[in-house]
Amino acid sequence: MFDTKIYIQRREILKKSLGTGFILLLGNEESPMNYTDNQYPFRQDSTFLYYFGIDHPGFAAAIDIDEDKEYIFGDDITVSDIVWMGPQPSVAERAAKAGVKTSASLREMEDIIKRVIARGRQVHYLPQYRAFNILKIEHLLGIHPKRMKEYSSQLLINAVASQRLKKAPEEIREIEKALDIAYEMQTTAMRVASPGKNEKEIAGIMEGIAVSRGGRLAFPTIFSKNGQTLHNHFQGNKLKAGDIVVNDSGAETAMHYASDITRTFPVKGKFTNIQKDIYQTVLDMQLTAIAEIKPGVTYRSVHLSAAKILAENFIAAGLMKGNAEEAVNAGAHALFFPHGLGHLMGLDVHDMENLGESNTGYDNKTKRSDQFGLTYLRFAKELEPGIVLTVEPGIYFIPELIDMWKKENKFKNFINYDKVNKFKKFGGIRIEDDILVTTKGCKVLGKPIPKTIKEVEKLASMRK
Ligand code: GLY
Ligand code: MN
Repeated sequence: MFDTKIYIQRREILKKSLGTGFILLLGNEESPMNYTDNQYPFRQDSTFLYYFGIDHPGFAAAIDIDEDKEYIFGDDITVSDIVWMGPQPSVAERAAKAGVKTSASLREMEDIIKRVIARGRQVHYLPQYRAFNILKIEHLLGIHPKRMKEYSSQLLINAVASQRLKKAPEEIREIEKALDIAYEMQTTAMRVASPGKNEKEIAGIMEGIAVSRGGRLAFPTIFSKNGQTLHNHFQGNKLKAGDIVVNDSGAETAMHYASDITRTFPVKGKFTNIQKDIYQTVLDMQLTAIAEIKPGVTYRSVHLSAAKILAENFIAAGLMKGNAEEAVNAGAHALFFPHGLGHLMGLDVHDMENLGESNTGYDNKTKRSDQFGLTYLRFAKELEPGIVLTVEPGIYFIPELIDMWKKENKFKNFINYDKVNKFKKFGGIRIEDDILVTTKGCKVLGKPIPKTIKEVEKLASMRK
């Protein structure tokens, strides 16, 4: 946990932001895998962690702004629980560490909330993403699961989203710790991957690094020679000379702050000339994007600049034709770059995605596009100092998408399908770093991980 005063300050900001009302924040419960006592690893809700730091199942909290009262709700364990789990801090002790003076049982929580409702007061809650907590809200507030999202509090969503958007120095330090772990995962993978090994051997070593550093993976690792599938979680391929591998992986610290890094490298240590050309284009897209990041610029415009580099390079290489800017405005580049440039990162690897991207990545000035590719941009609005986000352009040759667009004659003025067809076995390349927006520009967080062709080939050639 951070120091108690950090949680107190965070709640003070939230209370000021809302001004009035009763806030209910639910922690997460254990989630059974196949029977009650065999559970998926516990992951606390990130907003609950942010305001209370209690990393344990079975808790809820409330903030009554009007009565200036805060509550932690939970049930103390019994001696028979201690037999299995060992001694645990009491609910009151956990509440004290979070700087909350009042603790109460879950039964008492029901009575307190009933009284709030009986007085005609609104209970502010956030959109829910776990079935168990949807049932809890239904039980406590009498809201049918189908209407749960509709009745969630827009005021609370806005307050939490704007507060969690900008990272405090202690949060940046945690993210950098997560990046230290990602550095080791990525550089180890480059060194140990070699022809004849299986993808899962390398993915397993990376997971071991994350766990041995006191945290765990921030998300299921994407380690695949079939990098043309954006989120390829299959790890059963044998690597061979000539393959390139997309390694999109990251760790979360014991405090649950994330890192999210992608590198693409040649299994045997050297890229082919064609792989080098495409790699360099992705790197140019990423470096151009990073150079443009500063307060006041929209991330949509940064995304479009990266897309324009792709179009210019592909026009020069004969894969595309026409005018680069017109091609990007029409969305033709999305055949090769069908996802957004990046997303917020913090306590969640896609930070606050549970609050809705329209609440975190878009606003009245920046509306979501419905164009294929651009529509997947998770954060598009103006950048502000303190924001942490990923910059992760990629180029992919997805045979099914190429075939479909060709059949539809889609963007035939911009795409040279005869040439593109020759790349259908190429795979994909993505390069990703985590960036902090500063007052003047931005900073790439963490120790630099080999990224230029020369640096990647040097590390990937070791011990092959
Ligand atoms: N690292 C996976 C993603 O950004 O979706
Ligand atoms: Mn990412």
